[in-house]
Amino acid sequence: MPVRDMAIIGAGYVGLVAGACYAELGNRVVCVDSDEEKIARLRRGEVPIYEPDLPQLIARNAEAGRLAFAAAAGPAVEKADIVVIAVGTPPLPSGEADLRSIEKTAREIGASMNGYKIVCIKSTVPVGTAEKVERWIAERYAGGFDVVSLPEFLREGSAVADALRPDRIVIGTSSERAAAELAALHEPLAAPLCVTDARSAEMTKYASNAFLATKITFINEIANLCEKVGADVAEVARGMGLDRRIGSSFLRAGIGYGGSCFPKDTNALVQLAGSVEYDFRLLKAVIEVNREQRLVVVDKLQNALGSLRGRRIGIWGLSFKPNTDDVREAPALAIAERLAELGAELRLYDPAAQRRFREVFDHPFAVWCESALEAARGSDALCLLTEWPAFADIPLAEIRAALDRPLLIDGRNLFDPREARLAGLEYVPVGRPV
Ligand code: UGA
Repeated sequence: MPVRDMAIIGAGYVGLVAGACYAELGNRVVCVDSDEEKIARLRRGEVPIYEPDLPQLIARNAEAGRLAFAAAAGPAVEKADIVVIAVGTPPLPSGEADLRSIEKTAREIGASMNGYKIVCIKSTVPVGTAEKVERWIAERYAGGFDVVSLPEFLREGSAVADALRPDRIVIGTSSERAAAELAALHEPLAAPLCVTDARSAEMTKYASNAFLATKITFINEIANLCEKVGADVAEVARGMGLDRRIGSSFLRAGIGYGGSCFPKDTNALVQLAGSVEYDFRLLKAVIEVNREQRLVVVDKLQNALGSLRGRRIGIWGLSFKPNTDDVREAPALAIAERLAELGAELRLYDPAAQRRFREVFDHPFAVWCESALEAARGSDALCLLTEWPAFADIPLAEIRAALDRPLLIDGRNLFDPREARLAGLEYVPVGRPV
């Protein structure tokens, strides 16, 4: 297999994982980031994000001399056969993706081009961005190059496994040369290739995330309905999931999706649709229903306790999902803010996300706990907001003993209703009878 020289611009979440994985496949990779402090830390072997298996993968490939870090893009781009853009595209207040980092990076790449290279865009970008990147590079470089949309589908918390064992690789380009070289680059992954035009590849990324967000929101509405008619959403999802056309994943009902991708990408797609005068009604409804779904926890607390003023509420889980310390758009944030507004005293615990959560939610009524049981101790209710596996290992009898009132609101349906009841808990799941 030929060894390529690769420059990955942007050593954030996507860039670091991609860089380490391409190095693992045998390529020589330089990850570039303008944040010099971050580069210095990476060179010392410190990994700035929480991601299982990533520190080992980075260390192994750095030691083998296949993975290096640099603050300046120029030399890495000059040496590279393949350049990957993985800088952030945060939302603007309108919901539209902010392309300023992409533009700056494209111009930098243009200034360092010294021969044919393939420039791949891994950042999630609106349809039409590959063409813009092509123009920005061409303003600085008159020679040949190809720009390819190479969307990333990895999930936080299982990013390394997802990157090394992807369901598919989408390659968006009209250049046969670039398509063949990228097919060869990804060949060791043995994943199906979807070679298409750049616009369709860019749309595939948004459509995939919007579809998954819709699937989750659909099952959440079925859960709300199950509560009213006495059905069990877990059973319904099981029965639905066996239909191969539906599939069983992303049918876990709960308190809604969060994270840095689904909320951002669904908003961006609605925005994109609006810009071409298409009213994406379904997706607008998904966004609205998901926003409200977070607060079913607060409704359930009020149904059981009445006024929440002065009540002590234990909170288990602050990250938007397990195995990450990421709290961006975490349902826990909307819930904690609402509970604080209603005058509750919060006892918060998360195995990894406590520090990050504190940066965005610092409240005089917040008590930061050292352990899960400490958060439950003396509380009038316990709310489980993120299904960390460690919570499932805590004996229900200990939860019962720690609580002042044995009320457990399970926002992620982590526990078995029967067992919870047998342990003497007043158990309130989402969409399941008790
Ligand atoms: C998501 C996509 O799954 C990735 O394919 C994509 O690459 C990524 O966004 C991105 O655009 O970068 P991620 O945000 O890491 O990945 O998280 P997911 O595992 O997809 O979970 C998203 C949210 O949905 C979480 O809040 C999770 O709790 C929720 N969820 C997921 C449910 O409520 N129910 C489910 O059945 C599944």
